Amino acid sequence: KIVILDFGSQTTQLIGRRLRELNVYCEIIPYNKFYPKDNLVIGVILSGSPFSVKDMKAFKTDLSFIRGKYPLLGICYGAQYLVHVSGGKVDKGDTREYGRAMLTSIKKVDPLMKNIADYSQVWMSHGDTITYMPKHFTVIASTENVQCAAYHIEGEKTWGVQFHPEVSHTEIGMRILDNFLTICNAKRDWTSTNFINSTIHQLQAHLGNDKVILALSGGVDSSVSAVLINKAIGNNLTCIFIDNGLLRKNEFDKVLKGYEHLGLNIVGIDAKDYFYRELAGVKGPEKKRKIIGKGFIYIFEQEAKKLKDIQWLAQGTIYPDIIESLSITGTTIKSHHNVGGLPEKMNLKLVEPLRLLFKDEVRYVGRELGMEEHLIMRHPFPGPGLGIRILGEITPEKVRILQEADNIFVSRLYEWNLYSYVWQAGVVLLPIKSVGVMGDERTYENAVVLRAVTSTDAMTADWARLPYDFLAKISNEIINKVKGVNRVVYDISSKPPSTIEWE
Ligand code: XMP
Repeated sequence: KIVILDFGSQTTQLIGRRLRELNVYCEIIPYNKFYPKDNLVIGVILSGSPFSVKDMKAFKTDLSFIRGKYPLLGICYGAQYLVHVSGGKVDKGDTREYGRAMLTSIKKVDPLMKNIADYSQVWMSHGDTITYMPKHFTVIASTENVQCAAYHIEGEKTWGVQFHPEVSHTEIGMRILDNFLTICNAKRDWTSTNFINSTIHQLQAHLGNDKVILALSGGVDSSVSAVLINKAIGNNLTCIFIDNGLLRKNEFDKVLKGYEHLGLNIVGIDAKDYFYRELAGVKGPEKKRKIIGKGFIYIFEQEAKKLKDIQWLAQGTIYPDIIESLSITGTTIKSHHNVGGLPEKMNLKLVEPLRLLFKDEVRYVGRELGMEEHLIMRHPFPGPGLGIRILGEITPEKVRILQEADNIFVSRLYEWNLYSYVWQAGVVLLPIKSVGVMGDERTYENAVVLRAVTSTDAMTADWARLPYDFLAKISNEIINKVKGVNRVVYDISSKPPSTIEWE
C-alpha cells in the first residue's frame, strides 16, 4: 500500500481517490502518525497543507524513517517541506502561483516525468515557492513563473512537485501519479471484484456463524453494506428498516421492494405514530433532531431484543468518516452513519465492511453486486428526514403536504434528466401562510421552498441553476396538485453562508 501523510490540505482525500482509481490501495494518515514497522508500505506521499512551511504553527514531522527507505513524493507543501528541512529556501516572494500553469523544460529521462510533454497544463495553488534548492536537488520541470515546479533528489527515490497532480485541472496529473506508482512497483490489484471477494472472505472468517443486525436507511452506504454482508453470511444478517413517518412519499415500500430481488432479510417497522406522538408540539430543530435520534434507537432496540443471540451491529461507515475521526486537522462534517451509542448500549461488536472505501468506490461495489442504479445514485437524505424540512412543529398533515410537493419535485428532476446534475434536492415547508387567489376565491395557504444544490461533499454548496421552464412547471404542478400550498419559491443561497437544510 501507499501511505499518504496528511498535512491538512483540502485535496488530500483526492490524492487517495486518484491512487485507488489507478487500482492501488492507499491509506491516509495524519502527518505525524507514520508507523515504520508496517511492512505493507511500498511508497509514501506528503500532502499539501493550509500552512506555509515558515509558519510557527506549520506541521512538522521527522522523515528519517521514510526518506531513502521508500519512494517518496512531496506535493505542494510536501515538496516545500522537503526543501525546507534539507537546507533550501521557501519564500513568499513575487512568484505566487494560483491556477493554470504550463510545464516547460521537462527532464524527460526522469521516471516521474515519463511520457509528460512540454506545455502540459498543471494546477498550482501556493503562496510560497521554492527559491533556493538544497544540494543534490535537481529541477525536472519548470513553469513560466517558477523555476522549480518539480524536482528529484539525486541518489534517493524522492521527488517533489509544487503543483497538484490530484486535481482534474492538472491534465497530466494521473500520469504523474501513475509514474510514481510504477517507481513504487505497485501491483494494480485494487478493484471492486477483488474487494468484494476478499471482503466476503474476511466477513465469513470474522463472523463465522454469528448473527448480525443492521439499520437500513435506504441510503447508499447502509444498503451496500447490507448486500455485501448478506452475500457473506446470508440470513444470519437481519436488516431493520424503520418508518419514522418522516420518509419521502412511498419510500418505505419502494426500499422494501428494491431489495426484494437481492434476497435480503428485512424487517420493516411502521413506527409513524410513535414518532408523531413524541414530536407533537416540539418546535426547535435541535430538539426535534434529538427526539428523532433517540426514538430511532428506542425502536431499533425493541426490535433487536425480539431477535435472539445477536452479537454484531453492522454500520455503513465509509473511509472519509474514518479519516475525519482520525484527523487532527480536518474539519468534521456530521457523521451520518454512527447510530449514536447503540453498540455499547446493546453490548454489540461493530462490523463496518465499507470502512476502507470512498463514496465512489461504494457505488462501484454496489453496481457490481447487482444493485439497481436508482438505489446507487440516490441523493443524500438527512437522518431526521422530512422532520428538519418542516420548519417548526411537525404534524401528519404537514408531512403529507411536504411528501406530495417533494415527490413532484424529485420525480420531475428524473424526468428532465436533471437528477444527477443536482447533488441534493428537496422541498421545505415554511411555517407561514400567504394570500393567493384561485378561481374567484381568496386563499390563505402554505408556502414551500424548492432547494437544489450542486456540491461534492456537502461542506460547500451552490444553488443549482435549474432551467426556468423546469421551475415554472414544478411551481404550477405543486400549486395545482398539492392541497394546502399556494406559493412556491426557489432558494438561491449558497453554503456558506447558508446551509443546505433550513434547520
Ligand atoms: P447542512 O444543512 O449542514 O447539511 O448544509 C449538510 C448535509 O448534511 C445533511 N444533514 C444531516 N444528515 N443528520 C444527518 O444524517 C442530520 O441531522 C443532518 N442535518 C443535515 C444534509 O442533508 C446535507 O446533505
